Amino acid sequence: MPEATTLPALSPNPVRGRLNSGFFALMAGYIEHRLAGHKRRIFAGTGGVVAEIGAGNGPNLRYLAPGTTVHAIEPNPYFHRRLERTAAARGVDLTVHPVPGEAIDLEDASVDAVVCTWVLCTVHDPAQVLHEIHRILRPGGRFAFIEHVAAPPGTVRRAQRLVRRPWRWAFEGCRTDRDTAAAIRAAGFTSVDITEFRFRSTFVPVRTQIAGTAVR
Ligand SMILES: C[S@@+](CC[C@H](N)C(=O)[O-])C[C@H]1O[C@@H](n2cnc3c(N)ncnc32)[C@H](O)[C@@H]1O
Repeated sequence: MPEATTLPALSPNPVRGRLNSGFFALMAGYIEHRLAGHKRRIFAGTGGVVAEIGAGNGPNLRYLAPGTTVHAIEPNPYFHRRLERTAAARGVDLTVHPVPGEAIDLEDASVDAVVCTWVLCTVHDPAQVLHEIHRILRPGGRFAFIEHVAAPPGTVRRAQRLVRRPWRWAFEGCRTDRDTAAAIRAAGFTSVDITEFRFRSTFVPVRTQIAGTAVR
């Protein structure tokens, strides 16, 4: 097993941890309605052995090829019950790893693909998580992602700045102003393809989003 990285303990707040799982369960239909097209594009053909970082309640499992084995890297135990139910309902072979993305307990080059949506905004150390994603992917394997990111200067950026503290508190560490595209481009992939898009929603701080893929 890979050596563990020293990290601050990730201990989800019992109230906000549960609320976050409940919130994403409640909002799942709305979010999927707006993201489905992007997800179908970036997850097309994703199957085999897949690691999902921050799998949450499992909204991405429906996009994976039948027969996919999923290793869910999900450190927040309050998501596990819904995640396991979603996997069972979709017939996905799921193993939950209650570890952070900064220290994934999978071997080097052991997965065909890695997926994550709305996670690099929240992790403690995005560069370390990207290092781990690159490490566990087999050569030629694909990382597919959707993330909300810092907006260019203007109204949305001002809204992101204004709400950043309460937002981070409510969504367990989520930052509205990360330059995740730059972090992915700097992570050593052989090719990176990123599309910026607008998430049409009343949740103004997450309007600026990226969807893409990167190949190891
Ligand atoms: C906004 S939710 C998104 C959940 C899911 N991916 C979705 O699209 O609905 C953020 C997720 O990242 C997870 N997370 C937070 N910190 C993490 C870390 N260090 N490593 C891996 N996942 C983490 C949370 O537990 C949560 O499941």
